[in-house]
Amino acid sequence: MPLLITNIGLLVNVREQNQLLFGAAIADLPCIKNAYLVIEDGKIKAYGSSSSMSTVNSQFQIINANGAYILPCWCDSHTHLVFAASREEEFVDKIKGLSYADIAAKGGGILNSAGKLNAMSQDDLFELALQRLNEVIQTGTGAIEIKSGYGLTVEGELKMLRIIQRLKQVGSIPVKASFLGAHAYPPEYKNDHKAYIKLIIDEMLPNIAKENLADFIDVFCEQGFFSANEMKHICEAGMKYGLRLKLHVNQLNSIGGIEAAIELNALSVDHLETMTDGEITMLSNTGTIASLLPTAAFFLRMQYPPARKLIGSNCAVALASDYNPGSSPSGNMNTVVSMSCIQMRMLPEEAINAATINGAYAMQLENEVGSITVGKKANLIFTKQIPSLAYLPYAFGSNLIDKVMINGEFIGMH
Ligand code: NIG
Ligand code: FE
Repeated sequence: MPLLITNIGLLVNVREQNQLLFGAAIADLPCIKNAYLVIEDGKIKAYGSSSSMSTVNSQFQIINANGAYILPCWCDSHTHLVFAASREEEFVDKIKGLSYADIAAKGGGILNSAGKLNAMSQDDLFELALQRLNEVIQTGTGAIEIKSGYGLTVEGELKMLRIIQRLKQVGSIPVKASFLGAHAYPPEYKNDHKAYIKLIIDEMLPNIAKENLADFIDVFCEQGFFSANEMKHICEAGMKYGLRLKLHVNQLNSIGGIEAAIELNALSVDHLETMTDGEITMLSNTGTIASLLPTAAFFLRMQYPPARKLIGSNCAVALASDYNPGSSPSGNMNTVVSMSCIQMRMLPEEAINAATINGAYAMQLENEVGSITVGKKANLIFTKQIPSLAYLPYAFGSNLIDKVMINGEFIGMH
């Protein structure tokens, strides 16, 4: 039976047509006050203002939203949600003064996670990942991208991607997989980069393609990790298998990753804490989305990405959580949205667009999620009673979500 939701205080991000929002367009968040919404077969069927609602007949199951705001669920386009163990010991080391690079140099960081992941069974890893997925759904995430990159061996990378594949099958929200074999050099390849890149290209990629395990390919382009040329080489190999690029660039240093990413027509460049003005200009008006991960900058006590400059230069900005055990041990997109407003001076409307419609584009899910549009999935956030939309990022840390609906059904809240 179709579902009719009445008495919606504000229906947020209502769009007849899909479009990636560049520059100033991101400040325009179309909403309908006092709205209704019709859902059928888990999808959005119709919506409008209550005054325009035709007479309700008994063919609908009716839910009274009692003035709640309804938003499209968050689209988290960058996570590393599959991992074996938390890393709070490094967190304490960082409090004592060690940097992210110091920790990586001591064999901590990504290599620490890789050791633990390779030692754990696929089933155990899957259970942990599924728990995390369900937890982020409860905080309003309705579509997610998940990366490999803690295997760094042929078997380990395949294991991670098979887990993500299982999450696609059993999880209730759309999941996209990125292959991040180029996340770090395993110690045995520290002095032989060519051999590890050969392993990625000749062993990992063909096997991944055979099982159709990845939608995207990612590389951590960073000093001490992969150079821009190494990234290019790996990306070109991935592109031969039809994988679009989502790349870690300019987190700690600017080493040519932006230029290479644009040349390769990357879908997104992610992080961008360290951007030169020249690189911002380069990114202007390109189809490459700037995905900002403010909770990672927060957690590592780094400068935040230059969101205002990027928007001012007509870049398309998205927001994501970077959920991972090393630099952002939280997948809570409400925090990401708050932090973007507080620390990067994004307006609430801009942050909500960046975390929904532009996030959907950053994982090629724009036809399924990211806005209130007829035909898209009814993956929706129902808020508690709030005085205004700006109250959401303002009252950071408060849980303002009353209920989450996925495919037209409320999920069990704990
Ligand atoms: O996006 N920067 C590279 N990768 C992750 C961190 C991974 C880790 O520390 O385990 C990131 O921040
Ligand atoms: Fe990341």
